Amino acid sequence: MDRRNFLATIGMTGAALALPSRANAALTGLSDSEIESRVMELLARMTLEEKVDQMSGRLLSLSPGHGLSFGESPANTRLGIPAMITLGASRGAGMGRATVFPVSMCRGASWDRALEERIGEVIGYETRAKGCHTLLGPCVNLLRHPSWGRAQETYGEDPLLLGVLGAAHVIGAQKHVMACPKHFAGNSIDDSRFFVNIVMDERTLREIYLPHFKRCVDAGAATIMSAYNHLNGALCGQNPHLITEILKREWGFQGLVMSDWTNAVDDTVAAANAGLNLEMPDGKAHYGKKLAEAVRAGKVLQKNIDESVTRILRQKFKFITPDFRKGYDQDRIADKDAASLARQAAVKGMVLLKNRDGALPLDAGVKGLAVMGELAAKKNLGDLGSSFVLPPYAVSALEGIRRRAGAVKVEYCRGKNLGEAERIARSVDAVVVFAGCTWRDEGEHLGYWGGDRLNLELHPGETALIKAAARANPRCIVVLEGGSAIVMEAWKDMVPAIAMAWYPGMEGGNAIAEVLFGDQNPSGKLPMVFPKSADQLVPFDPVSKTVKYGYYHGYRWMDKKNIEPAFPFGFGLSYTSYKYSKLRLNKNSVDRDDKLVAQVDVTNIGARAGEEIVQLYIGYNGTKIDRPVKDLKAFGRVALDPGQTRTVSLELSPQELAWFNPEKGAWQIEDIEYLAMVGPSSKAEDLKLSDKFRIIGI
Ligand code: BGC
Repeated sequence: MDRRNFLATIGMTGAALALPSRANAALTGLSDSEIESRVMELLARMTLEEKVDQMSGRLLSLSPGHGLSFGESPANTRLGIPAMITLGASRGAGMGRATVFPVSMCRGASWDRALEERIGEVIGYETRAKGCHTLLGPCVNLLRHPSWGRAQETYGEDPLLLGVLGAAHVIGAQKHVMACPKHFAGNSIDDSRFFVNIVMDERTLREIYLPHFKRCVDAGAATIMSAYNHLNGALCGQNPHLITEILKREWGFQGLVMSDWTNAVDDTVAAANAGLNLEMPDGKAHYGKKLAEAVRAGKVLQKNIDESVTRILRQKFKFITPDFRKGYDQDRIADKDAASLARQAAVKGMVLLKNRDGALPLDAGVKGLAVMGELAAKKNLGDLGSSFVLPPYAVSALEGIRRRAGAVKVEYCRGKNLGEAERIARSVDAVVVFAGCTWRDEGEHLGYWGGDRLNLELHPGETALIKAAARANPRCIVVLEGGSAIVMEAWKDMVPAIAMAWYPGMEGGNAIAEVLFGDQNPSGKLPMVFPKSADQLVPFDPVSKTVKYGYYHGYRWMDKKNIEPAFPFGFGLSYTSYKYSKLRLNKNSVDRDDKLVAQVDVTNIGARAGEEIVQLYIGYNGTKIDRPVKDLKAFGRVALDPGQTRTVSLELSPQELAWFNPEKGAWQIEDIEYLAMVGPSSKAEDLKLSDKFRIIGI
């Protein structure tokens, strides 16, 4: 059926055939009012069973390669309503072969909004080329603690970083399909995800756990997935405060809310009345007949059903064209351009944590190189749960290094035999040891592998290997892989260089080699605190039925408690150095509806071109309430040639400095002196450039 016929089927003719004129226009070309009137007309013609059917998801397949996320809100052929098919998509389109990007946490470390939008676009394209309409991502749950098994699926510990990158992903993906920010909300423990009740006060919820979802909604997200956990006593999928009061009423969300996949709903009436629009993936469990009966019994109002169906149809008619796959070329899936984007993302997300005495990059003086550790030879792409994506190929670090090494002789040693490792380490100019995590150590809790990572240190064998190699060769470089923080105190001081490569995607090995050999200058910065030990963090409890989340975690917690982490939030080195100077604010008294613009000059004072991530934090001098020492409020990336200076402008709306007053149930701006601090990381010594301002017209 072509577009004209499709539109005719759903009753649109004439003016409705005009092509989209707005950037955020419907992919179907229909205007909002056309969609709304079509939905109204259909609602009037639908039986209760037909309405409920739209709200009752189905699992399409559990066959290998199809992933766990292949489900649908069904079609209705009588009325010409298309099915909406979902696909798991956080590091790629999870059905058949597709581009495997670095995990979201690696992309979080790139702090690169434009890059994340392009990645969203490619994942969206590939999802559509596979005939699916909704990708189940991005995950924007806040990383409260690095032990969370699914840390790799999100972008970090800070609401602003999460929100900016999540929104960029939504915008990119929705050029082709619907996106589905998840898991709404407070989902950041995996082992207990099916039963845990997360308890937090309203201020914590509003200021720490929700702002990033709001950014995704403001970016136009078409769907949202509820979380498995309970929040303040109600399952998130049955939580009227979250779904109806905040998401739909306050934020004006126009899309549909679907449930997460297993046990995310346990009560038909509670879910429907809370505003859950679509039960996935088995809508017979609580919706289907049970929901129709509940309506007949008067336990669920017809208007709730109509509201759900309106939301579902609205998105279907906005995104699902009749010839949905037309022009979406299978040959473009994981093609050269997509692979090169994956490689670029792996480079940009790699964080250089330590580099003493020019241990990196490996230079012309290195004639013999030893690569050690089992991870070096693994295609270490991340979790095997719902975020799993099958790559057409994947490059291990060892393969990448061998390809790039040229005349450098590369010897590989798994590192099981420490005596052998020491002997080899002694015979070469430099050693690179690979260590960290795999899907066995962390991931989605599916019962048999992964789950939360309670011990943040390396495996004992890896620690022993690093120590042996470091004793035998002073140029011992450690490259870490994994989804979140790793504790390194046992060996950190013994080695001159450490880099965090995360799960770097199918092009990861090439990206790692490019950074190690200096073809690329690392620029990633930590999207979370790396502690010296787990004791420095807020507690992590994956067992209890009730877990309280306080206001503080991550860098805000450490600032407040005066704790010095191993590596601070926002920290990352480069092969060059940058100087920050001349911080100036556009105003020292900013109207609440105006913009604060902080400008700073950044100069590349080293010998290599590079990119620097510039961060703006705000402090609250004389606050009357309990506020963080500082909050990240803006950031930007700047590319600089050696000797070059550029001015970076960081913008902030005073509204973003408001706090949520739970007694008033409202956001309020304090009449105090604010401190704008700009620099290369959240470390106090890195934020010496500062200026004060006040907000007026409050
Ligand atoms: C996960 C979701 C995922 C869904 C479908 C659930 O278990 O929590 O993130 O989208 O499965 O695969």
